[in-house]
Formats: sequence, C-alpha cells, structure tokens
Amino acid sequence: MAAKVYAIANQKGGVGKSTTCQVLAAGLHDRGKKVLLIDLDPQSNLSTLCMAVTDAQKRDVVTILEVLTEENTLSEGIQHKDKYDIVPASMFLASIDGRLPDQISRPYKLAEAIKTISKQYDYIIVDTPPALGTLTVNAIIAADYVLIPAQADILSLQGVSQLYSTMQAARKHANKGLKIAGIILTRYNGRTNLSKDIATLFDSAAGTMKTKVFESRIRENTALKEAQSKGVDIFSYDKNCNAAKDYKALIDEIFGGEK
Ligand SMILES: Nc1ncnc2c1ncn2[C@@H]1O[C@H](COP(=O)(O)OP(=O)(O)O)[C@@H](O)[C@H]1O
Ligand SMILES: [Mg+2]
Repeated sequence: MAAKVYAIANQKGGVGKSTTCQVLAAGLHDRGKKVLLIDLDPQSNLSTLCMAVTDAQKRDVVTILEVLTEENTLSEGIQHKDKYDIVPASMFLASIDGRLPDQISRPYKLAEAIKTISKQYDYIIVDTPPALGTLTVNAIIAADYVLIPAQADILSLQGVSQLYSTMQAARKHANKGLKIAGIILTRYNGRTNLSKDIATLFDSAAGTMKTKVFESRIRENTALKEAQSKGVDIFSYDKNCNAAKDYKALIDEIFGGEK
C-alpha cells in the first residue's frame, strides 16, 4: 500500500510546523509505523532537529533540491535515523523557481518523486517553508492530507484563510482528493481569555473550510526546546511533560482510527 502523505503547512513562521513534523514522526514510529520526513524549507530547521546532514555541512550531500531538479532520485536523498528516515533541505531551495525553468511541470516535482518510494513507508510527512510559493504548492499537490498548525492569534488565523484559497485551487486543478485533516492549535496558553476567544474564531474558520480544530491543543512548554537542543524527540526526553502528553493525544486523534 502507498504511504499516506501529510503536508504540514501554514505560511506564518514560528507556529510549530517543523516541531510538529518531528514529533509526529517519532510518535508514529513508537506506534510501529515506518515514516519518512521531507524537509522543503530552505531554513532546514527540520533537518537540524533530526540531525540530518545538510549541504551546509557537506557540500555534495543529496538534498530535496537535487531531487526536485531530477539530478538525483528521492531514494538517493534518504538518510536513516533511529526512529525515521529524512530527506534534508538545502539552503539553495530558496532559488527553486530559477532551478525549475519549466513552469508547467514545476508544481508536480515532489508528487512525482514521492510516487517512486511511497510503497516503502506508512507515512510521509512534508515540512514546508513560511511562504505560499513553489515549495508549499509542491507539498500541497503531493499530499493526501494537509495539517495546519496555528498559534491562537489573529495573524495566524489570517494565514490559514490564505492557505485555504491555495488548497481550493489545488483541489480544482491538480489534486482533487486533497483533504484538510484539521487545524492544530499550538503553543497554546489556555489560561488567557484571549486564547479562548481566538480558539472560537478558529472553530468558525474551520467550519467554513469544512474541517475541524483538533480537540488536543499543544500547550506552550519549554521541554520541547530542551529536547530539541539535546537532539532527542519529546517522548524520549520526558514522556510525562505537557508537550509529550498533548502531542500523544493529538496523534491518537489524527491517526487513532487508521490501521
Ligand atoms: N508547544 C511549544 N512550546 C514551546 N515552544 C515551542 C512549541 N512549539 C514550537 N516551539 C518553539 O517555537 C519555535 C518555532 O517552532 P517551529 O516548529 O520551528 O515553527 P515553524 O516551523 O512553524 O516556523 C521553535 O524555537 C520551537 O522550539
Ligand atoms: Mg519550520
């Protein structure tokens, strides 16, 4: 069976996209699933979190850039880690439009590459940059599902509605089966009335998008940063901290029903 492909997207930065990718991969591994992470962000944060080798450290390493430009296959870009595999990003991904001169095929490169290895994994999780350009569009066209991490603030809400327009266009022209799995409220502080008010606004935005806000919210928790600085996933770092509990509940909610 082909892997289920999840794109983690929101063109706002700092909302927990890369963190969520890495934690979902670790959590799915702990449930016995085989996971591939793909880093599509020139900032390479996910590659760093997973301690992958990037072209900043080793010039001739195969990254997702060489895969998109078809100089290498996706298989050649895969690095094996303890809990999951990862294809790292390149700092040169920012120049992707210049590297892919054919505008017609440009948005389909990732989808085509994923087809070649998709039977080897249960899940493929794609991290995206904080922009709605070629890279995020490639992720949305390659995806079965989009997951939208968002902080409970008004600018984050604006980002979600812009992303929705892009997903609607993808559905119409390129990826009819695309589903919005839901919105994940991240870095949440439920003690403030503001967070609660905004959560209500997100619920209504989700209704418009015919999706939902996941009940499991990810609280702001410094343990995540500590785990990241030590290079371990949150479940190995401290399975009883708030972030580990919240992400575990989220994984049950997203993937619970799946075999
Ligand atoms: N729930 C959380 N609690 C505390 N810090 C978090 C949480 N989620 C993410 N962070 C931190 O916030 C910053 C941005 O997160 P990141 O995952 O890189 O977001 P994005 O990929 O959307 O830019 C990082 O320093 C990360 O460690
Ligand atoms: Mg990121």
